[in-house]
Amino acid sequence: MSTISPERTGGSGLTPPPIMKAFVYGGIGHKSIEDRPKPVIVDSGDAIVRMVKTTICGTDLHILKGDVPSCDPGRILGHEGIGIIESVGSGVTAFHPGDHVLISCITSCGICENCRKGMYSHCTTGGWILGNRIDGTQAQFVRTPHADTSLYHIPRNAEEEPLVMLSDVLPTAFECGVLLGKVGPGSTLAIVGSGPIGIATLLAAQLYSPGAIYMIDVDDNRLEVAKRLGATATINSKIEPAIERIMALTQGRGVDTVVEAVGIPSTFEMCQELVAAGGTIANIGVHGEKADLHLERLWDRNVTLTTRLVDTVSTPTLMKTVRSGEIDPSNLITHHFKFDQILQAYETFGHAAKTQALKVIIDFD
Ligand SMILES: NC(=O)c1ccc[n+]([C@@H]2O[C@H](COP(=O)([O-])OP(=O)(O)OC[C@H]3O[C@@H](n4cnc5c(N)ncnc54)[C@H](O)[C@@H]3O)[C@@H](O)[C@H]2O)c1
Ligand SMILES: [Zn+2]
Ligand SMILES: [Zn+2]
Repeated sequence: MSTISPERTGGSGLTPPPIMKAFVYGGIGHKSIEDRPKPVIVDSGDAIVRMVKTTICGTDLHILKGDVPSCDPGRILGHEGIGIIESVGSGVTAFHPGDHVLISCITSCGICENCRKGMYSHCTTGGWILGNRIDGTQAQFVRTPHADTSLYHIPRNAEEEPLVMLSDVLPTAFECGVLLGKVGPGSTLAIVGSGPIGIATLLAAQLYSPGAIYMIDVDDNRLEVAKRLGATATINSKIEPAIERIMALTQGRGVDTVVEAVGIPSTFEMCQELVAAGGTIANIGVHGEKADLHLERLWDRNVTLTTRLVDTVSTPTLMKTVRSGEIDPSNLITHHFKFDQILQAYETFGHAAKTQALKVIIDFD
């Protein structure tokens, strides 16, 4: 273990702390690769993980736009990835140096009131903190608190790269979209937003055999991917009136489930137009702006509106569906970069219409 206590980092004549490369949010629109001290164990439940692969989330783009006030400038971003345990605190029992691990985007203590309800996203000493309130995974090393209950062993012989999609994308799609949206056999589903989260919702929804899945986006390439991966029909809402199209496809009823996977007011309002009587609007998008809820139209429609920050309670289940081949998350991976190309990776991910990117993998070796 090569940890150096913070007290030894400043004084003259002492060994300087080991330095690592990290991707840092510098305030709205500012991002850079910086040298940072390698993290050290702070609490007994911590692990230090050497990153092997990470990725970029739509939420990271929201942070760069200033939509996430909890994330201060100076923060190392990233809440997804896989790595190898470098060292663990004295209280960690389930993981050892050398173990290959999946890092959950949600950190959970497992014992606070919210964790005991399975609501890990609101763990009183965790939740979505990585790459938000504490430094994240877009760096050569990351400190993961509550390691025993926030990391997952990667099974021996597993193909590791697709498992990066289990840090956030797949559990988010499954929990916030498919489960809360009550997708069921024969039901109709519209997914607004055909980005990685929307496409992952499309993949996870098919576990439940819905009758029809309609995908809406403004990017023809992403819609083509959706079509190839099982969408019944796709609608480019920049070109066609999406609400009229869905009404025509559903004999004027609307859909049983509508999933919001964009995170802007206009798409949230569109969802309210698309939902059938008795249906569910399952919001996934991170909203940085006020969005209107039209109760004057919806009050008598028996609809349910759900919101959720992913809890990642479904990660072990999803790991099994990936290993059995029922869900193939490698369908979401379009680009590969080395860590020193991460600025280019952000450009590519941020201009998906031009680059045809879905998830980009960033390799550290
Ligand atoms: N609730 C959670 O726990 C959670 C977890 C992860 C991500 N998210 C959020 O989910 C959302 C989707 O994530 P992503 O990674 O797929 O993001 P993304 O930005 O890659 O994808 C969003 C998609 O929406 C499309 N879009 C933009 N404007 C549109 C419009 N007016 N009409 C239709 N489509 C439009 C874009 O073309 C893009 O394909 C983001 O808001 C992200 O922050 C939420
Ligand atoms: Zn995310
Ligand atoms: Zn907790």
